[in-house]
Amino acid sequence: MSESICRVEVALGPRSYAILIGQGLIATAGPQITAALPGAKAALVADATVLKSHGPAIVRSLGEAGILAGEPVIVPSGEASKSFGELERVTRQLLQMGLERRDLIIALGGGMIGDLVGFAASILRRGVRAVQVPTTLLAQVDSSVGGKTGINTPEGKNLIGAFHQPSLVIADLDTLGTLPVRELRAGYAEVVKYGLLGSKAFFERLETSFTRLLDGSSPEERADMVKTCCEMKAGIVARDETETGERALLNLGHTFGHALEAAAGFSQRLLHGEAVAIGLCLASRFSELNGHCPKGTAERVERHVAAAGLPVSIGSVSFGRTVIPSALVRLMQQDKKVVRGNPTLVLLSDIGSAFISRDHGWEAIERFLENQMHG
Ligand code: NAD
Ligand code: GLY
Repeated sequence: MSESICRVEVALGPRSYAILIGQGLIATAGPQITAALPGAKAALVADATVLKSHGPAIVRSLGEAGILAGEPVIVPSGEASKSFGELERVTRQLLQMGLERRDLIIALGGGMIGDLVGFAASILRRGVRAVQVPTTLLAQVDSSVGGKTGINTPEGKNLIGAFHQPSLVIADLDTLGTLPVRELRAGYAEVVKYGLLGSKAFFERLETSFTRLLDGSSPEERADMVKTCCEMKAGIVARDETETGERALLNLGHTFGHALEAAAGFSQRLLHGEAVAIGLCLASRFSELNGHCPKGTAERVERHVAAAGLPVSIGSVSFGRTVIPSALVRLMQQDKKVVRGNPTLVLLSDIGSAFISRDHGWEAIERFLENQMHG
């Protein structure tokens, strides 16, 4: 096993686990899993696109380690697979393979497969272990860590799900080499989120190094970026596993973003990370307009988001239908942070410092959206 593997621990007592970050890790998945979780058979569930590029290496490694349970279960790529239909198909296939309570399921792919498989693992035989092998930037810096799992329904995103921590995360940076640039940028929105919510120094580093981070010309800096995000997330999750407080900060940009994503029909019209990018800009602008952060903050955020090739405004989204501010507010009202019908927003007091606010009502949010869309 390579010496250049970074290891980040998620400290959750008996549910603690390691995040391994490095190059060429998929080819070592078998021994890594055997070392961390001895005695288990592993069922591989993979995104169809990812399986073509990265399936052979992981299947070989699991086979050589003698832990592969059956043929890979293949899930169609795309957000539409985070559905009750796919959940039923995948769980039944795993049962038919004879996967036992002490075995584990490997999720190979981006956040879609991680969320779906994590949820399947939480309910299969009342809970089996999951190993996340994230292959998108978004999944490596965010969704594979922390145990939020779930599926979408027409009512909104991730409204059905469970907290189910993985037992190991294997983030192979080489997989980013086959990721389309649009997806890489979308994942970068979550990276920017970490700088905004918790570290001005990290945001400033991103401002100077984002070109290299996106084009992959500095593998060391990329590894460091993924590690920094995972460390920040691991710290927050260890302090607030089930989001009773601080963990909500990780939702910076998501309250607006999820509504935009739903309005665009969870489709290629607007990727999750792109919706988060606009959401970060909206949260910054809303914070500034309401006097929570210094003047110029929103412009600085928008400048960086735009420089990274991400959308910054609602006007840049082609929804495929007319979307009005009140419709976005109705979608925001499905947010899991809503308390007794009232909004909970994550806002900025500065770059690198976010806070949870319950001081603004739906009317103020609708007026703000009206201005952003038609002002
Ligand atoms: P995704 O999983 O849909 O992957 C995006 C696309 O990239 C897909 O078409 C996939 O086939 C392709 N792909 C993945 N890896 C590839 C690779 N290495 N090479 C080539 N193609 C590859 O999208 P995503 O952006 O990774 O994840 C978005 C999902 O994550 C959303 O459902 C979102 O809600 C969820 N999410 C969850 C959490 C959490 O904490 N659980 C956090 C953030 C986001
Ligand atoms: N991505 C938000 C969270 O994990 O809490």
